[in-house]
Amino acid sequence: MSHKLCSALFKRPTTTFLFILLFCILGFYILDSEPLNHKSNETKTHKASKPPTGFHDTFLSLSSNYTVSEYLRSLTLHPHLAGTPEGYQTAQYVKTHFESLNLETKVSEYEVLLSYPVKISLTAHFSNLGSRVIGLSEVGFDVVRPYHAYAPSGKAVGAAVFANYGREEDYRALGVNVSGSVVVVRRGEGMSRGGVVRAAEGRGAAAVLTYTEGEYVKGVERGTVMKGLGDPLSPGWGSVVEGGEKLERSDTEVEDRFPKIPSMPISFETAEAILRSLEGPQVPLEWRDALKNSNFRAGPGPTVLNFTNQVEDKNARIHDVFAVIRGSEEPDRYVLLGNHRDAWTFGAVDPNSGTAVLLDVARRYAFLMRLGWRPRRTIILCSWDAEEFGMIGSTEWVENNIMNLGSRAVAYLNVDCAVQGPGLFTSMTPQLDDLVIDITKKVQDPDAPDITIYDEWTGRNKGINIQRLSGVDSDFAPFLQHVGIPSVDMYFGKDFPVYHTAFDSYDWMSTHGDPLFRRHAAVAGLWGLLALRLADDPILPFNYSSYAMQLQEYTSILSNKLEGRISFTPIFKSVKNLLAVAQEVEEEAKELRVDGGASSDVIVLKKRMLNDRLMLAERGFLDADGLQGNRWFKHLVYGPSNKYDSNIDFFPSIANAISQSTQAKKDNQATIRHEIWRVARAIQRAADALKGDLS
Ligand SMILES: *[C@@H]1O[C@H](CO)[C@@H](O)[C@H](O)[C@H]1NC(C)=O
Ligand SMILES: *[C@@H]1O[C@H](CO)[C@@H](O)[C@H](O)[C@H]1NC(C)=O
Ligand SMILES: *[C@@H]1O[C@H](CO)[C@@H](O)[C@H](O)[C@H]1NC(C)=O
Repeated sequence: MSHKLCSALFKRPTTTFLFILLFCILGFYILDSEPLNHKSNETKTHKASKPPTGFHDTFLSLSSNYTVSEYLRSLTLHPHLAGTPEGYQTAQYVKTHFESLNLETKVSEYEVLLSYPVKISLTAHFSNLGSRVIGLSEVGFDVVRPYHAYAPSGKAVGAAVFANYGREEDYRALGVNVSGSVVVVRRGEGMSRGGVVRAAEGRGAAAVLTYTEGEYVKGVERGTVMKGLGDPLSPGWGSVVEGGEKLERSDTEVEDRFPKIPSMPISFETAEAILRSLEGPQVPLEWRDALKNSNFRAGPGPTVLNFTNQVEDKNARIHDVFAVIRGSEEPDRYVLLGNHRDAWTFGAVDPNSGTAVLLDVARRYAFLMRLGWRPRRTIILCSWDAEEFGMIGSTEWVENNIMNLGSRAVAYLNVDCAVQGPGLFTSMTPQLDDLVIDITKKVQDPDAPDITIYDEWTGRNKGINIQRLSGVDSDFAPFLQHVGIPSVDMYFGKDFPVYHTAFDSYDWMSTHGDPLFRRHAAVAGLWGLLALRLADDPILPFNYSSYAMQLQEYTSILSNKLEGRISFTPIFKSVKNLLAVAQEVEEEAKELRVDGGASSDVIVLKKRMLNDRLMLAERGFLDADGLQGNRWFKHLVYGPSNKYDSNIDFFPSIANAISQSTQAKKDNQATIRHEIWRVARAIQRAADALKGDLS
């Protein structure tokens, strides 16, 4: 087995591989020279001559663009939509890979409601050109035809009307009655597909067509229009295969997750043909970049669209695959690395660039294990299914394991589309800022040989540029927003032009996304090293002063926005308390790090007690009542809001209250004040958890 591993590595002999040769030999030497009867992993760890940081350097030296490219090629041979036989084959591929590395491997199966197209047609009646069948893009590809998962089956015949991004403000600016029309919208400005369809539905539209614009955009963007996360038939609990509770498809709680009017995606070219043909009032200036080839009119009509949508909902089996590396000292503490595996088509970028990297991190970890390394805490590599339908695989698993994750998970590290192009982009909860910054200084930039990722990242952004995790667009959402687990999301490149289309293939990746696969290797370095630090550092590398400072900034922004009409004093007070506790904790950690060498029972317990407080503080931001109208989302700092202001991607419950009172044109101060208090109490809970004292 290890011979296979080594020979696989040697197909491209470079200096890196000479190093690897050394480690292969060293690995065999250590394996061979080990006494046969080990009592436990613990003995092994204490015997290993290297400190963990030595293994961390070894991890970085095992970088290989070759292995990762081979994994990606295998994963993307066939389209592998969730719930299909080809989807199941990728689960088998990942499982076999983990097993061949001798890692403890597990598969969790769920039965969930997925949605597939049956028959879709679109005809346009142009006033000057007559009737034409349109919207038939990506013909000839052996992939699922462009559709919206969970869009209802139905027919619509109506005048075409352009509504820009489909936001409330767009309809206000448009000023026409879209009732009975087929609304065409461009994707963007943070509007979700489902949100766009619902907004049109609320105005009486008959159907919605969405398109993605961009000079290099190719193909048609598939996607889900379901609201909320996870299996719609088991909201809030895991949809176990045998004998679990399931709601009826006709239950109103299920129906509420889906739009009532049909919708589908169309290509940029189809959209242009429709938009060019419209008459009616002139559109606002800001919309005109979308209508380059037209006379800047948005309809409705005279073009009439005839759209028939037949989509089938089906119960399907999905498979999450795991590799578990048990911790030697704290096996009941988990560091999770997760990526989804299911794809709309071939998935070379989305998501299998991340899967290939996950498999490569597994290869490197298995290698370290041969050298005698065991993590201090348990590391779990997770390969999710059915993310594209609404984070279903991860959400079902999280719901099914909520007790153990809530009490034992240290961090969740997500990588979805690992490589979309050049340059690092990353988001995280703020206690992880310092650690991630530190890690970026340890990994070489994949595109410029003599600098680190940190140099390129900060150079390009003229400083540190970290995003936060209020979006619900990948598998970190259930971990952070439902269970309060500190989380990270990262990727290289942004806004790739073949998103969710038939062109997201190995060919696109090897010609455009990452021709040398060095960006893949760089993500493997960052992701794997980040997990190693979280798994091996005796004291968890969490900085809650960063969190407190970030919360203070958020509060100032909102307070200024409301021009002092409502007091934010309750939040400022609890943030101050959190900051004070965070500073005490840093002192405590410093002292324990100095004592690091001594391993008396007392010191071991002191470290464990501090680590528990560091781990659990994030859970304080959860509120049992969750977000109003969206109670599954429990986190009051990060979560989805009604996007009334795209700059405000924090404190979702307060943002929603402000948005409601703005829309109703009536200052609903009592509701806003109540939400301010709820956030203040959540921050105080985090401070109390970090302090670990009863009041
Ligand atoms: C829009 O048009 C529909 C049908 O043509 C009509 O029933 C509705 O009252 C109109 N809405 C407004 C706000 O004018
Ligand atoms: C719309 O299209 C369907 C299916 O192609 C066709 O049966 C129907 O007659 C069309 N309706 C109109 C009003 O053109
Ligand atoms: C890996 O990178 C090297 C240059 O560092 C390049 O020569 C080689 O072709 C790359 N391998 C793959 C599979 O892209």
